[in-house]
Amino acid sequence: MGIWSKKSLAVLQAEASAEGHGTLRRALGALNLTTLGIGAIIGAGIFVLTGTAAAQYAGPGVVWSFVIAGVGCLFAGLCYAEFASMIPIAGSAYTYGYATLGEFIAWIIGWDLILEYLFGASTVAVGWSGYFVAFLGELGINLPSQWVNAPYAVQGTHHLVPTGAILNLPAMILVGLMTALLVVGIKESANFNNVIVVVKVLIVLLVIAFGFAAVNTANWHPFIPPNTTGEFGHFGWSGVLRAAGVVFFAYIGFDAVSTAAQEAKNPQRDMPIGILGSLLICTILYILMALVMTGLAHYTDLNVPHPVFVAIEKAGPALAWLRVLVNIAAIAGLASVVLVMLMGQPRIFFAMSRDGLLPPVFGKVHPRFQTPYVTTILTGFVAAIVAGLFPIGLLGELVSIGTLLAFVIVCGGVIALRAQRPDLPRPFRTPLVPLVPILGIIVCVAMMAGLPHDTWIRLIVWMVIGLVIYFLYGRRNSRIGRGEQAPVTGD
Ligand code: ALA
Repeated sequence: MGIWSKKSLAVLQAEASAEGHGTLRRALGALNLTTLGIGAIIGAGIFVLTGTAAAQYAGPGVVWSFVIAGVGCLFAGLCYAEFASMIPIAGSAYTYGYATLGEFIAWIIGWDLILEYLFGASTVAVGWSGYFVAFLGELGINLPSQWVNAPYAVQGTHHLVPTGAILNLPAMILVGLMTALLVVGIKESANFNNVIVVVKVLIVLLVIAFGFAAVNTANWHPFIPPNTTGEFGHFGWSGVLRAAGVVFFAYIGFDAVSTAAQEAKNPQRDMPIGILGSLLICTILYILMALVMTGLAHYTDLNVPHPVFVAIEKAGPALAWLRVLVNIAAIAGLASVVLVMLMGQPRIFFAMSRDGLLPPVFGKVHPRFQTPYVTTILTGFVAAIVAGLFPIGLLGELVSIGTLLAFVIVCGGVIALRAQRPDLPRPFRTPLVPLVPILGIIVCVAMMAGLPHDTWIRLIVWMVIGLVIYFLYGRRNSRIGRGEQAPVTGD
């Protein structure tokens, strides 16, 4: 069998409906899946990056950036929904790739998704640490700075220089706690996540409602500050586009719903609801939130680690009560993002291991908790180290480029599978194929192109490491490669 072997859809669907020992527990309904998505989506993007993007690139025009990034995600989300309802299995984009584009592309996506989930968890943990430390500071508790910062910073575009700090310990501890929670069980984790999501959404709604009443409309003029330097990305419409690439990070996470497909009670119906529902709710909240933030504070004041807090502060003493709540929402909210990211990664490893592309130990399920505990612990361990060592900017860009690549392949996969197997039942159909997937590819590639050159190099280095592992291990041990599973040609 070659590197282009595809996995049979019949086998995939049989795997998806397997129950019992060695499988994951089906405990999640439509509501749980939607809250899982919202838990993954609302995080460091809206709470931290909106301010940066408005101050540096787009001014209040960041509202349009959210619209553009949201539209790109909607196209990709429609493609994810078709696959997730059709092949409801833990591997998400990795599995879709295996069924449609072959083992080699599947490996590329699986390896690439580590950037999204494992590095994503680390990125948001670093953002959380910033809010947490600032919150303690307000209470008069000041932690020593060498234990709450990354020991490396990026100078220029690619030089890593020491900062004098030792480790970002709060970020590491958060990752450790969330990992422990995930080992204990998916249902318990989902309940914990639901509570946090309710708090997070409520406080975002309070900020929107009370914030709108206090907006100073002068801050919205001009809505898109003119580009005065002639430099691409520095205000004007090019700035709006660049900011779209930055705030794209805020939308990452709706696709994480698809990694819980094997734990869904009725994936055919509930996967599309979870993916598209969480994406739509967050898009609306983001657009309103960006309007309120840029209306309360002048955009030049928002380039801070907690811009939502600063925006509320500008509203004066009338909204002082909301400031504390905003901090609590950010701290709880970012923690829930870390939780969902840490939950997605082991489930992708689980799928890859079952296919023989990773060693069998990656697929071990805990006999009592029925969770993929070995990979959960491994993921948590590596994510904690990454969170302890690197700055948020470097990590965030890598996560974005990796995620955008996965979105592009998923959009391409929908077109490929429609051509290869038009006959298959599709509980959810992406509308207007191939137009919607093609538009998804165009918008995602445009956002990738907006990311810096060095981020591309890091992506390429990461992929080369992945290819070496594939040719040394995966290709030789793949179950399809060893003839243990019928490839799609015999389907
Ligand atoms: N969308 C997630 C966040 O903003 C990754 O933190």
